[in-house]
Amino acid sequence: MNTNALLSGGPLSAEIGQLFWIFVGIAAAVYVVVLAFLVVSLRRREGARAAPPDSPAARHAVRAIGIAVGLTTVILVVLALSDFFANRVIAATPENPLRVRVTAHQWWWEIEYVDADPTRRVRTANELHLPVGRPVQLEMTADDVIHSFWAPELNGKKDLLPGYTTRLTLVAARAGDYTAECAEFCGFQHANMRVAIVAHDPQDFARWYDAQLTPAAEPVSPELQRGRDVLLGSTCVMCHNITGTDASGVTGPDLTHLASRRWIAAGALPNDAARLAAWISDPQGIKPGTHMPATRLDADDLAVLTHYLTSLR
Ligand code: CUA
Repeated sequence: MNTNALLSGGPLSAEIGQLFWIFVGIAAAVYVVVLAFLVVSLRRREGARAAPPDSPAARHAVRAIGIAVGLTTVILVVLALSDFFANRVIAATPENPLRVRVTAHQWWWEIEYVDADPTRRVRTANELHLPVGRPVQLEMTADDVIHSFWAPELNGKKDLLPGYTTRLTLVAARAGDYTAECAEFCGFQHANMRVAIVAHDPQDFARWYDAQLTPAAEPVSPELQRGRDVLLGSTCVMCHNITGTDASGVTGPDLTHLASRRWIAAGALPNDAARLAAWISDPQGIKPGTHMPATRLDADDLAVLTHYLTSLR
């Protein structure tokens, strides 16, 4: 789940990668050439005196400085132009994009797939699924402070600002797992603010999407039924939504399909029963400063609650 800024998973990040190597290559060449001249002039300096003005050596030096200034200008223009053309590609408005609204919170990501038909809207958290090949337009804003969305394998970095919408296009060239991080210091848990990005083949994506549209799985055993009762009787419902139940809070992540997600707590923990139970009973111990309060339950209630949550695929 580490992000590798040098790997490219699509055409937009490839553009940035190319720009990066152009800058690195030119800077390295300039460094080597400057050092070579330095070494040569230091060696020649032994015993030498300054050449009198108007001598051939002085004229030679002036010409060399002129050439160096000219070369520097050419290099700067080349770098500026490559930057300009790369930006035209990565910031272009995509055709027929999949629209996804991303809202950054301290310290998690709210993800909502936009659709003209309100019954076809999907809400999830900390996990972004996308179809391979189709551009995904993120419409991003922040709920509290400034955050920044950075998915280096798919495109560059863009800030999320309260009360303002910024846009970023992602294109994945092949199916696989990617990550995005928050790249702007946003408080105590800035470092634990990740998005799992999953690129699917189009049919797989459609399957995922349809599964997300369904309400939460109904309890199929008395134990699961008890787990749901514990949840609905707890303070969890004040902040979390589970479609198909009375839990309809909007302050925290939507839990309707929690068990289908890879991580909990925005990438702080892998998603399994033991860690989920630990997270519910002591979120401050795992992610100090998180706005999720601890839920005090006896061991039996915690076990059935966790069992119910892990059934929400
Ligand atoms: Cu959100 Cu840093």
